[in-house]
Amino acid sequence: MSKLKLMAMLGTEHPIIQAPMAGVTTPEFVAASAEAGILGSVGAGYLSAHETRQFIRQVRERTEKLIAVNLFVPEQVEVDPLYLRQAYEALQPIGKQLCLPFWEVPLSESEFDRQVQVVVEESVKICSFTFGLPDEKTVRLLKENDIYLIGTATTVEEAKLAEQAGMDAIVAQGSEAGGHRGSFSGELTLISLDELLRGIITTVQIPVIAAGGIANKEMTKNALSAGAQAVQIGTALLASDESGAHPLYKKAVLDADEGCTVLTKAFSGKTARGIRNRFINEMKEANIAPYPYQNDLTKGLRKAAAKQGKNEFMSLWAGESVHLSTSGNLKAIIERLI
Ligand SMILES: Cc1cc2nc3c(=O)[nH]c(=O)nc-3n(C[C@H](O)[C@H](O)[C@H](O)COP(=O)(O)O)c2cc1C
Repeated sequence: MSKLKLMAMLGTEHPIIQAPMAGVTTPEFVAASAEAGILGSVGAGYLSAHETRQFIRQVRERTEKLIAVNLFVPEQVEVDPLYLRQAYEALQPIGKQLCLPFWEVPLSESEFDRQVQVVVEESVKICSFTFGLPDEKTVRLLKENDIYLIGTATTVEEAKLAEQAGMDAIVAQGSEAGGHRGSFSGELTLISLDELLRGIITTVQIPVIAAGGIANKEMTKNALSAGAQAVQIGTALLASDESGAHPLYKKAVLDADEGCTVLTKAFSGKTARGIRNRFINEMKEANIAPYPYQNDLTKGLRKAAAKQGKNEFMSLWAGESVHLSTSGNLKAIIERLI
């Protein structure tokens, strides 16, 4: 598949994809990205099928441009109820600091298959995935409906698997990236974007999209010169006027110093990069349930922290280049990236 094909498929002015950021991307943000000449992506990972449909429709009320929908591929995870209890108890000291001696933990259920159905029914033309790859049946259904498929890989091995599974393009997610690692095969391996790009581009035939720590013109240029056909950018857009990030989250991004991010499983049970804060420090030695259980356990706490304006207990996902993030409207920020 040629470069022209990827750009033609994205239908954008610039070879840039607004990273899907579940929990942060709002319909206004996705539409503003699309209107600013980049591919807007709906971060639908935590949404129900119904919410996914509503979200897509709300974006379409604001733009006629093509958009992508990003889904979390569900994993089968068994958890010992006793361990889950211990993980809940490990969160008690944080609950106390938020004046929450007890909080409800409704366990989430993935509606992945129904979300896929929504993507088809709403005639979405681009669908991206993280945390794994869709199965054969799902790939067939999406392809029969002419939907362009983008997988996420954090290693060369995962990129090969994504190509074999029928993905049309791959996001190479370097270790610098903000948010969750998209890793799904083998041990968690941290590979810098430069190295990952080199490995993936020489191994697969399909177009590669570079993600992780890209925050200015030079970085965009470097990734494209290294052979990526587009870049996917998250953190650099987080503090934009249109972003749905909590005001305290935006402030933390704008105040961030170089080297302030760390990888942690404390919030969700899955490794993710964010700005180091008290929650991460206090949970260092604690029992942590596997994803998505830990995410369910901490949801009430994170909500309370946001409500109480305590960003020391909020998840402040951000990539290694967070210190380069700027405020302003999306269009102005994007113009500084190209
Ligand atoms: C707040 C936040 C949320 C994210 N949520 C998602 C998501 O829902 N789906 C996904 O595929 N990637 C998600 N990512 C990862 C991005 O797709 C991308 O890999 C990352 O933003 C690139 O690194 P950067 O943040 O340094 O630009 C998220 C990243 C951030 C910062």
